[in-house]
Amino acid sequence: MGTLLVLLLLSLFSKLGTSGVQSANDGFISAVVSEKGLVFAKDFLVEQVIRSLTPFHLPDIQKSLKIPLVGGVHVSASNVTLHHINVSSSSIHPGDTGIVIVASGASVSLSLEWSYSYSTWILFPIEVSDEGSASVQVEGLEVGLTIRLENKNGTLALNVTDCGCYMEDIQITLDGGASWFYQGFANAFENNIRSAVENAITKKIFEGTGKLDSFLQSLPKQIDMDNIAALNVTFVDDPVVGNSSIEFDVNGLFVQSTRDLTASYLHKHSHSIYSVQCGNTLKMLGISLDEAVFDSASLVLFEEGLFHWMVDKVPDQSFLNTANWKFIIPQLYRRYPNDEMQLNISLSSAPVVEVTQKGFVATIFSDITIEVLDSNKTIPVACISVDFTVSGDVNISGNKLVSRARLNDFSLSLKWSNIGNFRMILIQGVMRVFLNTVVMPYVNIYLGKGFSIPVFHGFTLQNAQLVTTSSKITLCSDLTYINSNIITN
Ligand SMILES: *[C@@H]1O[C@H](CO)[C@@H](O)[C@H](O)[C@H]1NC(C)=O
Ligand SMILES: *[C@@H]1O[C@H](CO)[C@@H](O)[C@H](O)[C@H]1NC(C)=O
Ligand SMILES: *[C@@H]1O[C@H](CO)[C@@H](O)[C@H](O)[C@H]1NC(C)=O
Ligand SMILES: *[C@@H]1O[C@H](CO)[C@@H](O)[C@H](O)[C@H]1NC(C)=O
Ligand SMILES: *[C@@H]1O[C@H](CO)[C@@H](O)[C@H](O)[C@H]1NC(C)=O
Ligand SMILES: *[C@@H]1O[C@H](CO)[C@@H](O)[C@H](O)[C@H]1NC(C)=O
Ligand SMILES: *[C@@H]1O[C@H](CO)[C@@H](O)[C@H](O)[C@H]1NC(C)=O
Ligand SMILES: *[C@@H]1O[C@H](CO)[C@@H](O)[C@H](O)[C@H]1NC(C)=O
Ligand SMILES: *[C@@H]1O[C@H](CO)[C@@H](O)[C@H](O)[C@H]1NC(C)=O
Repeated sequence: MGTLLVLLLLSLFSKLGTSGVQSANDGFISAVVSEKGLVFAKDFLVEQVIRSLTPFHLPDIQKSLKIPLVGGVHVSASNVTLHHINVSSSSIHPGDTGIVIVASGASVSLSLEWSYSYSTWILFPIEVSDEGSASVQVEGLEVGLTIRLENKNGTLALNVTDCGCYMEDIQITLDGGASWFYQGFANAFENNIRSAVENAITKKIFEGTGKLDSFLQSLPKQIDMDNIAALNVTFVDDPVVGNSSIEFDVNGLFVQSTRDLTASYLHKHSHSIYSVQCGNTLKMLGISLDEAVFDSASLVLFEEGLFHWMVDKVPDQSFLNTANWKFIIPQLYRRYPNDEMQLNISLSSAPVVEVTQKGFVATIFSDITIEVLDSNKTIPVACISVDFTVSGDVNISGNKLVSRARLNDFSLSLKWSNIGNFRMILIQGVMRVFLNTVVMPYVNIYLGKGFSIPVFHGFTLQNAQLVTTSSKITLCSDLTYINSNIITN
């Protein structure tokens, strides 16, 4: 389950602002569906409707006809089955009154079984009957519908406001039957078949969009991430319909269970722009994430107490022995000679993430407590505040955002000490090695595992690419789908 596809589908049905417009300021993830994306969504929808219609059984038709020379004839068409719909062209136009989708030049093939019976007098009354099959070909079918989509209490509601069906020509070919019957049947049944096809198509469209509407409204307003945090995907504002694209804005901040963290980020948000820059490439979808999204994730993880790390194993284990620190912090060695040490790392506040043109820069505020293990007792001896900045690039791999960071810079200050003062400048070199060989590889394990972009089952991102600009990361992608039945199921 996820937002990505929803946004795309939603894009079909949208309307310019009415219902309870909130301030545009609390949307930190916005998705723009381009013209190419609209075409994809339209094709998807048309395919879903066709799939739900073929094969399709239409109601039986019964009629009594007056045929010259023959008299009153009872005729019926049964097992009227719609087999195939071929749409030669379809189009989608976003507009003020809604999204207009038109499928034109469609042909429909049906089959049916006919039968007739009548009574005649030849000396005495006899019953005459016959039956056979027929194929029906409808040409020049045109279907148009107008759909509106609006924000209803943070979810999207869609509504078909207009739906029409028109067919140019209908040809009925009977297998067997007398020639008098053919013309009578065609004349009498053409209109019935027309309206049966029209009703079937219209009904399916309302049914399908109704299902899509309930599906959209049943989507959760929060997407759970590993039970730690949840991404608030509540829609803010109605979708914004442009000439050839549609934009959706969701709150997009991470929240902790029921906490509301929105307020603290509002000041950082600049007004959203209604186009997503994806370089020169033409993609279906652009999703841009404000840096506030990453900050909110960082704050939630911090508040959940997840940034703690006890370092007691390092590649060069002698690093964690006071003997190794003999010349850097002599009093440590004097007090605890040749004792094992461990480093208790915790963050003193949430990392601050900044998105830049080249990727991201994060500032991490940590406290490293040096603990000595003296005859099974753990003795904290000193605490050093280490603030460091890392920078990295973000790539997309499959449907994951992966990244790799490197150390830029750091600063040290002694927070407290039980072994007297010591100069930070002396431990600078050791700390650089420690950050580069222990801390950064550890951080990169997590960054390398990546962050999954939620996509619906059956859909995959294709040729995705990332563009970072100052304060926003934008994912541009095409989508493909395999066997996804939102309407037909
Ligand atoms: C109805 O029509 C379909 C397709 O032409 C055919 O497969 C099926 O056997 C028919 N059913 C009956 C009861 O005649
Ligand atoms: C559907 O349309 C295509 C292209 O117009 C044509 O090649 C194909 O034969 C048609 N199929 C049917 C069953 O009408
Ligand atoms: C709006 O959504 C909230 C939860 O997101 C729910 O508690 C509330 O009942 C909904 N209001 C209406 C009118 O549907
Ligand atoms: C669709 O719109 C019509 C007219 O605006 C309204 O009467 C109807 O309740 C709407 N349906 C839904 C499901 O919102
Ligand atoms: C939309 O189209 C109209 C007329 O075709 C044009 O005047 C307007 O500038 C266009 N708007 C945008 C945002 O491209
Ligand atoms: C989610 O976002 C909506 C819209 O911005 C906001 O009203 C709501 O309070 C947020 N929910 C939480 C739990 O923060
Ligand atoms: C590590 O340090 C933090 C804060 O500095 C402290 O709360 C925690 O108890 C320490 N953990 C251990 C195992 O010493
Ligand atoms: C330290 O702990 C280990 C087992 O955890 C025990 O065998 C050993 O006797 C302890 N040493 C001291 C000095 O208490
Ligand atoms: C991202 O892609 C660039 C260029 O393709 C590459 O140099 C870099 O190593 C990649 N980074 C990651 C984290 O995969």
